[in-house]
Amino acid sequence: MSRLFVFSLLLFLLASAACAPQQRYDITLVASGDLPTTTFTDPVLIRGEASYNLLCAHCHGYQGEGQLEATIANTRSLGMNLVPPANASGHMWEHPDQLLIRVVQEGIQNPLDQFPMAAFGDGVAEDEIRAILAYIKRWWTDDQRNHQATLTRDWTERMAGLGIVAPTTEVTENPGD
Ligand code: HEC
Repeated sequence: MSRLFVFSLLLFLLASAACAPQQRYDITLVASGDLPTTTFTDPVLIRGEASYNLLCAHCHGYQGEGQLEATIANTRSLGMNLVPPANASGHMWEHPDQLLIRVVQEGIQNPLDQFPMAAFGDGVAEDEIRAILAYIKRWWTDDQRNHQATLTRDWTERMAGLGIVAPTTEVTENPGD
C-alpha cells in the first residue's frame, strides 16, 4: 500500500468522523418552581435535595465529595484551599448546626480561595438552610451524625440559657435512606 493511499484513507476517515451527525440530547423543559424528580417522600429532604443541587453541588459535589477532581491540581498549584467535602470524608459534621447555618449565611471570606465559600445572606431562608443540612447529614456515618447532634443540642441549651431560642427542623424519613 502506498503511503499516499494510507494518508488519503486517514484523511477520508477523519473528514467523515467530523461530518458525522452530532449526538443530540432531549431536553425536557419544566415550569419554574417545579421541583426535580426525587426518591424522597419527606418534604424537608425533597426541598433540601433541590436546594443543595442548585446552590451548593457545583462546588461541594453532587454526592458531597468536594471539589471537582479535574480542577484540584490547578487549585493546588496556586497554593489555594480546596472546596471541602460535605460527606463523611470531610469534617462538616464536627460543627454544630448553629455554626453551619452561619457559614452559609456569612460565607468564609478568604482571599486565597479559588472558589471562596459564598455568603448567601438573605438569599436563602434559615429553614431552607436547615433542609439543606438535613440532606447533607444523610452522607455522614451514624457516629458522625450522633456526635454532631450532641454538639447542636449542647449549643441549643447554651443559647437557651442566654434567652436565644432557635427553631429546629424535624426530618421524619430515616436519615440514612
Ligand atoms: C463557589 C463555591 C462554593 C459554593 C457555591 C458553596 N460553597 Fe461551601 N465552601 C466553599 C469553600 C471554598 C469552602 C472552604 C473555605 C475555607 O475553608 O477557606 C467552603 C466551606 C463550607 C463549609 C465549612 C466546611 C467545613 O468542613 O468546615 C460549609 C458548612 C459549607 N461550605 C456549606 C455550603 C453550603 C450548604 C452551600 C450551599 C448553600 C455551599 N457551601 C456553597 C465553596 C463553596
